Amino acid sequence: MTERIPGLFVTGSDTGVGKSVAAAWLAGHLNARYWKPVQSGLEEESDSMLVARLAGMEAGSVFPETYRLNAPLSPHESARRDGVEIRLEAFRLPDAGDAPLVVEGAGGVLVPLNARDKMVDLMVRLALPVVVVARTALGTINHTLLTLEALRHRKLEVIGVILSGPPNRVNREAIVGFGGVELLAELPWLDPLDRERLAAVAPWDGVAWERLRRRLGR
Ligand SMILES: Nc1ncnc2c1ncn2[C@@H]1O[C@H](COP(=O)(O)OP(=O)(O)OP(=O)(O)O)[C@@H](O)[C@H]1O
Ligand SMILES: [Mg+2]
Repeated sequence: MTERIPGLFVTGSDTGVGKSVAAAWLAGHLNARYWKPVQSGLEEESDSMLVARLAGMEAGSVFPETYRLNAPLSPHESARRDGVEIRLEAFRLPDAGDAPLVVEGAGGVLVPLNARDKMVDLMVRLALPVVVVARTALGTINHTLLTLEALRHRKLEVIGVILSGPPNRVNREAIVGFGGVELLAELPWLDPLDRERLAAVAPWDGVAWERLRRRLGR
């Protein structure tokens, strides 16, 4: 498929795998805007703030979250504790104009949003092609292949994978080979993690990145 797309949905094989860091890398390289529909946990720096900082984005390039939930828990439980019910109908893809939109999920694809719907149901509603962020460490092959199966089962288009962590050739080749996916980038562990170091990470050398840029009009 090569038609024009308005943006990407960044999901992950798990929580804490580096979705926000990957979203910042994407937003920086694509000069994109960013939206986090569901933020669980408001005590520390929010994902919107982290991405804006790491991508050097102006505040106006970050769309407000639809749900801001207090506890750093699965959205269904965090919402319950706040006395809120997450409703799929409440989500509207923001209009980013000519800029691509990078959307970041919460947790992985099957985390519940309420008593019925999961994150993947929101992904189907938004209908954006998907980027999967995965760890490089042991365990990642299983988690990533399960995530890819769940996405394809719902007919969501998978654009590619971004790996996060110390490079591991064996795991990378297994994910690409068994998953039938392309690699967009391998983000090494950056210490310190800052805007300059993240911007300096080059896309994976292959056709996937250039094809994605064209489809996003970049
Ligand atoms: N490539 C990296 N280099 C250095 N630190 C990283 C990298 N990737 C992730 N981290 C660290 O791990 C933390 C978790 O990463 P990140 O916030 O991107 O995960 P996430 O998948 O977005 O989590 P959540 O499910 O909470 O949205 C980051 O705040 C950062 O400190
Ligand atoms: Mg995040």
